[in-house]
Amino acid sequence: MWSSGLKGSVGLVPTMGALHKGHFSLIKKSLASCDNTVVSIFINPKQFSPNEDFESYPRKTDQDIYLLDSLGVDALFFPDEKTIYPDGFSTYVKESALAAGLESLSRPHFFKGVLTVVLKLFNIIGPSSVFFGKKDYQQFRVIEKMVEDLNLDIRVVGGETIREKGGLAMSSRNEAFSGTEKEKLGVIYKSLEGAKNQILSGEQDVFVLKSFIEKSLLALEGIKIDYIEITDIKHLNSLKKIQKNALISLAIFFKNVRLIDNIEIKT
Ligand code: PAJ
Repeated sequence: MWSSGLKGSVGLVPTMGALHKGHFSLIKKSLASCDNTVVSIFINPKQFSPNEDFESYPRKTDQDIYLLDSLGVDALFFPDEKTIYPDGFSTYVKESALAAGLESLSRPHFFKGVLTVVLKLFNIIGPSSVFFGKKDYQQFRVIEKMVEDLNLDIRVVGGETIREKGGLAMSSRNEAFSGTEKEKLGVIYKSLEGAKNQILSGEQDVFVLKSFIEKSLLALEGIKIDYIEITDIKHLNSLKKIQKNALISLAIFFKNVRLIDNIEIKT
């Protein structure tokens, strides 16, 4: 087993690299509340299906190492594929309630891959706290559930979504876009905010809200909608009528890049 030799509490921020301000916000949370901060960079092949972007996923190791160093991170865990998945690897983690809808409808392999690698990272590093972004809200909740269900003695901390000036949620995948395209993709968050404002003004009909978001998104030429879903915040079950708390989640394709975003509504 890898031993960090670190003394005191350990915060872990798992990433797939090509680091940006979304990752930094999680790292800063860890630096502020833990004696040691470990960041992992591992582009996990098991959360990509064969037709997805594993090969073209951005790899920026030198730049990432420089940035982690300047942030004051104590250790980087940067394993190769065989270290994580040696020949004959055959054990997987599956969560079957929160992981069932939303992202899994288009990416049925995804959460099995995420939970398997995340549990391995937890076991290898031994963190007392782990940090995940709410940009990937379902991922955050599914990991919280795994920690609860499997009695892991780990604090799971969520971080707010960090956005470009125009509203686009920061993502390693945004590297594919020009400044103007990023600006235009601000329509994603604007459509979510528009729907939130409608809910706060009394709209409760999920069909009406989804139609509004769809129409706002399709104003951007070249956008393809994967899904728009409105669920409760706790169980991520689909709603027909808005309740007290709701989560609007969506996934779109633009230039063949898949982007996700969400907004929480507390009325
Ligand atoms: P990655 O996409 O690199 O994201 C690493 C962490 O950063 C995740 O917790 C993600 O939610 C968070 N994050 C990404 N963009 C963010 C933003 N704009 N604002 C706030 N947080 C943001 O998510 C993964 O990697 C992988 O699935 C992983 C958990 C590492 C497992 O392989």
